[in-house]
Amino acid sequence: MAHVVETLREPEAVIACHALAIYGDPPILSSAPYEDAGIVREAADEVAEIVRSGRTCYWGGGPKARELEASFARLTHRKHAFFHSSGSSALITAVFATGAGPGRPVVIGSSGFVAAINAVYHNRARPIFLATDERTLQATHLGSVEFGSEQPAALLLTHFLGNVVDVPTIASNVAASYVIEDGGQAHGATLDGVPVGSMSDIGSFAGSHKKLVTAGQGGINVCDASDLLARMRMVGHHGKSARGVGEVPGYNFRGGEMEAVLALYAMRELADRVAARNATAEAIQDVLDGAGIVTATPISGRAKPAWFDVAIVLPQEWGPHRDWLVTALNAENIPVASYPSLIEMPWLKPWMQSEGWWTDFEEDLQRSEKELWGRVIVIGTQMSPEDGRRCGRGIVDVLTGARGATK
Ligand SMILES: Cc1ncc(COP(=O)(O)O)c(C=O)c1O
Repeated sequence: MAHVVETLREPEAVIACHALAIYGDPPILSSAPYEDAGIVREAADEVAEIVRSGRTCYWGGGPKARELEASFARLTHRKHAFFHSSGSSALITAVFATGAGPGRPVVIGSSGFVAAINAVYHNRARPIFLATDERTLQATHLGSVEFGSEQPAALLLTHFLGNVVDVPTIASNVAASYVIEDGGQAHGATLDGVPVGSMSDIGSFAGSHKKLVTAGQGGINVCDASDLLARMRMVGHHGKSARGVGEVPGYNFRGGEMEAVLALYAMRELADRVAARNATAEAIQDVLDGAGIVTATPISGRAKPAWFDVAIVLPQEWGPHRDWLVTALNAENIPVASYPSLIEMPWLKPWMQSEGWWTDFEEDLQRSEKELWGRVIVIGTQMSPEDGRRCGRGIVDVLTGARGATK
């Protein structure tokens, strides 16, 4: 499709344009678009059955949790699955299972959802960050990464925003003992035909709000090695081993029965959901592309994303004004948001300094990651393509000043 590239205005000009909802004008969209949280309404009767049974959770995991685990393992072509109470708890047990205890290096992409770095912290492992590629917004192996003399216990990579990170290439460079994929935002996506969650030792999937396999609250890990499964189950079940002995100080991270039912229903819709989200992503990207607005792209020719968000990489001048833009677009009822990179979490530097792990490498990487992620805004794909197009048009109108011209 041939596009006429519209001219983006300088941030100062956009901010000075007073025909905006943030300054009291009527919003571009009369109301915020409907965004699907992913709960399958048809599951209501079966959830009610569980409530009527008087038993919503079981010591060690209930029948619905086991059914979900078996189905999910089949879906992802893995031998085992363990249903958790959240995606965050699933990441904690995954990191634990690799043996990444206090001070052991874990190589982690700086691109990802905060739960990944939280999981490294809760295992007291030493994070070693990978930079983000500006085009794909995924972790990259490029750049100098200091692993020290100790082999990393794990490489933890997130398929962020529904895009696909090049797990095999990075894994071959890092040579960690184990590889973990955080795939909750990209379920159904593939790299070289291989599904997300199947390119590693442990695939981890969040099942919370808006995820492709939504449990309401939940997360699931898949793997082939039974020792990894045993270690995940142990730490996620009060630290108790199969012998029933508390071997380590664990947690209760088991998923509940009502949530397992919701996830089972959502799983059946996976293919349709991926197609629907990609259709919305395409609608948004098409409008933005037409105006010369840069969005994150897949690894060319190899990756088939399952877009969770369309990510806009704004020109550098927008860095100091990104938060203003998010507020201004939200006032127009356009639901954009932002993500920080993982290396810029405010608690991270003081913690790593106290451990003697914060070096010039981290300082430089934090600066460049902040610069990049500070000019990224995202818009979710859980809306209809029509709403996606309207939102995309609204973003273009604000950034090009067309919004002011039509007033
Ligand atoms: C990629 C990714 N991983 C992990 C999580 C954490 O999942 P939860 O919110 O269920 O703890 C999320 C949540 O949004 C996520 O997007």
